[in-house]
Amino acid sequence: MVKATVRIVCVVGTRPEAIKMAPVILALKATDWCDCRVLATAQHRQILDQVLALFGIVPDIDLDIMRPNQSLPDLTARLLTAVDRVLEDERPDAVLVQGDTTTVMATALACFYRRIPVGHVEAGLRTGDMANPFPEEMNRVLAGRLSHWHFAPTESAKKNLLAEGFAPESIHVTGNTVIDALLDVSGRVGPAAPVEAHVADNARVVLVTTHRRENFGAPLRAICDAIRELALRYRDAVFVVPVHPNPNVREVVQAQLGATSNVRLISPLDYLPFVQMMKRADVILTDSGGVQEEAPALGKPVLVMRAETERPEAVDAGVVRLVGADRSVIVRELSALMDDPVVYRSMARGVSPYGDGHAAARIVEILQRSLL
Ligand code: UD1
Ligand code: UDP
Repeated sequence: MVKATVRIVCVVGTRPEAIKMAPVILALKATDWCDCRVLATAQHRQILDQVLALFGIVPDIDLDIMRPNQSLPDLTARLLTAVDRVLEDERPDAVLVQGDTTTVMATALACFYRRIPVGHVEAGLRTGDMANPFPEEMNRVLAGRLSHWHFAPTESAKKNLLAEGFAPESIHVTGNTVIDALLDVSGRVGPAAPVEAHVADNARVVLVTTHRRENFGAPLRAICDAIRELALRYRDAVFVVPVHPNPNVREVVQAQLGATSNVRLISPLDYLPFVQMMKRADVILTDSGGVQEEAPALGKPVLVMRAETERPEAVDAGVVRLVGADRSVIVRELSALMDDPVVYRSMARGVSPYGDGHAAARIVEILQRSLL
C-alpha cells in the first residue's frame, strides 16, 4: 500500500459549505496519497449535521462554535483562535475552504498566520458591491487574497480573479462542486414523506427560501407581504417555506406568514428531501446562492430576491430573474410565471452553467499535481 504523504484539512462550517465540500472530501478520501482530515467548525449545528450524515462524513475535529443568534465579531474571533489551535495540532500541508462564510474568511486568515497554503473552492464570485451580499462579498474577497489555489466554478469567476491581479496559473476553472453533490443526491431514493406530507398531488408548488442578512428587517417584511399577497391570489397553489433557523428570519416569517392557510412554514429540510422538493416545485423563489445553481440544472424557473447576483450565468441564460426584495416586482414576476405558459416555458429550461458533476475530481487532480 502506498503511504499517504500529504495531509489536507477540509473545513466546513455551514450547510452550503458541507454540501459543496462533500464531493471533494469523498474524492480526497478515495485517493491513496492524501490523509484527508475534516474540520467542522459547526458555525451551523443542526443543519450542518444533516448534510454530513447524508454524505456519511464524520468530522475528525468538531469545534461546536455555534451560539444562538451569534454576532459576526464574536463568531469571527472565536473561529480565529479555535481554528488556529487545530492548525497547530494538525500541521496540514494544505487547507481547503469553500465559499464565502465567516468560517471561510477566519480559516483563511488563520492559515495565513501559520503560512499554510489555502485552496479556495468556489473562488472568484463577485457582485462588486460590499453591501450585497453582506458580509459574504468581503469574506470572499479576503479569502481570495489569502488563498494559494483558486478553484473557480466558471469562466466569468476566473475573469473576476484575473481583473484583481491574481496569477493565471493560480486559477483553475473546475465547475461548481454543488452540481457533483446534486447529481449524487438526486439519483438517490429517499423518504418520500416530506414532500407528500406538505403538498397534495395536484397542487402547484412555489418553493421559497430566504435568509440573507442584507434582507433582514424591512426587506424581509416586504418579501413576506409579497408571499401573502400571492398565496391569497393563487389559492390552488401551496407555498412551501422551509424556514432558516436564524432567529432574525424565523421570528419575522412566523409572525407574518404563520396564519396564511396555503403557506406551509416547515423546518429546514434535509438535503435529500429538499432536492426532491425542488424537483416537485413549479417555481422557486429564493435569495440563496446554492439554490440559484441547483434549480436551473433541474429545469426550475427561479426568481432571486436580491438586488444583485454573483451568479450571472443563469440570468444570462434567461432561466433566473432578479426581483429584489420589492413586493410589487415579486408579485408581478411570480404572477407572470403562474399565469402565462409561454413565460413559464421560457424559464423552465434545464441548463447547467455551473458544472458537469466532475468538479471535485478536477480539484483533487490539481492538488495532487501541485502537492506531490
Ligand atoms: C450563514 C452564512 C451565510 C450563508 C448561510 C447559509 C455568515 C456570516 N453567514 O448565515 O453566508 O449563506 O449561513 O445558510 O457566515 N442556527 C441554528 N441552527 C443551525 C444554524 C443556524 O439555530 O443549524 C441559528 C443560530 O441562532 C445562529 C444563527 O442561526 O446563531 C445564525 O447563524 P450564522 O451562521 O451566523 O448565520 P446564517 O444567517 O445562518
Ligand atoms: N437546502 C437544504 N434544505 C433546505 C434549504 C436549502 O438542504 O431546507 C440546501 C440547498 O439545496 C442548497 C443549500 O442548502 O444546496 C443552500 O443553503 P443556503 O441557502 O442556506 O445558503 P447559501 O447557498 O445562500 O449560502
